[in-house]
Amino acid sequence: MTSQFDTLSATYEDFTATRFRTCLEIPSVRRALGDLGGAAVLDLGCGPGVYTRWVRRHGAARATGLDVSGGMIGHARAQEAADPVGVDYVLGALPDHLVGTFDLVLGVYVLPYATTHAELRQLCDTAAHALGPGGRFVTLLIHPGFRPGAVSYAPYGFRLTAREPLGDGSPVTLNLCFQSHDETVTARFWTRATLEGTLRAAGFTCPRWTDPTVSEEGVAEHGEPYWRDYLTHPHMVITDCVKAGSST
Ligand SMILES: C[S@@+](CC[C@H](N)C(=O)[O-])C[C@H]1O[C@@H](n2cnc3c(N)ncnc32)[C@H](O)[C@@H]1O
Repeated sequence: MTSQFDTLSATYEDFTATRFRTCLEIPSVRRALGDLGGAAVLDLGCGPGVYTRWVRRHGAARATGLDVSGGMIGHARAQEAADPVGVDYVLGALPDHLVGTFDLVLGVYVLPYATTHAELRQLCDTAAHALGPGGRFVTLLIHPGFRPGAVSYAPYGFRLTAREPLGDGSPVTLNLCFQSHDETVTARFWTRATLEGTLRAAGFTCPRWTDPTVSEEGVAEHGEPYWRDYLTHPHMVITDCVKAGSST
């Protein structure tokens, strides 16, 4: 099956070097995840494996990346072959032998690529099946308060356009425009009520919602005014929930 992401592995890999990722996104994910010591982590929608490698380097005992894009998984496996950190990758669905074996599922910008409510539910089900008792699902979503045109995200390396009013499944066009990159993908907006309802139906507790923040280094290096527009109107939010019925 082809995917809009098959040719974008280098774009997402290179995006990792942008200020947005190094000073805001990665530190925000780090704060949300907390101590990874000894954890088994599934990186759902791993793309080129940036976060799969990152969690392994930051204490995870085991890290597996899962993605439906052959281009992304091919790139991730090539990275691991060139510079092994001890991660592995799965193309397609979660294999039976990995069901219930993870402590944490991380999903960075994957739920926004569900094109239907059924796909959104399937992604949440995959996260729930992957987790053992007490397992957490931490995921980055398009912010429910996102309003196209509220600010320009171009200084942060991307542009977002969408037709208002936004509702469940509304297309959101993401143009990655940084360094020499100029590539476009289509994401979907999902309302907070639908996201919470779908996570609960898949067996999770009601998620905690956390807005991103900038690292101290990010403020020192680039100045508070540079970040102001983004922090006033963040396009993403982090949710954190636990498999219901599990000990926390
Ligand atoms: C925006 S990219 C993010 C990649 C990576 N998480 C990152 O932040 O660098 C979204 C990824 O989700 C993957 N994806 C979309 N739907 C998926 C699904 N149902 N199961 C697994 N991966 C999926 C895409 O192939 C793509 O690689």
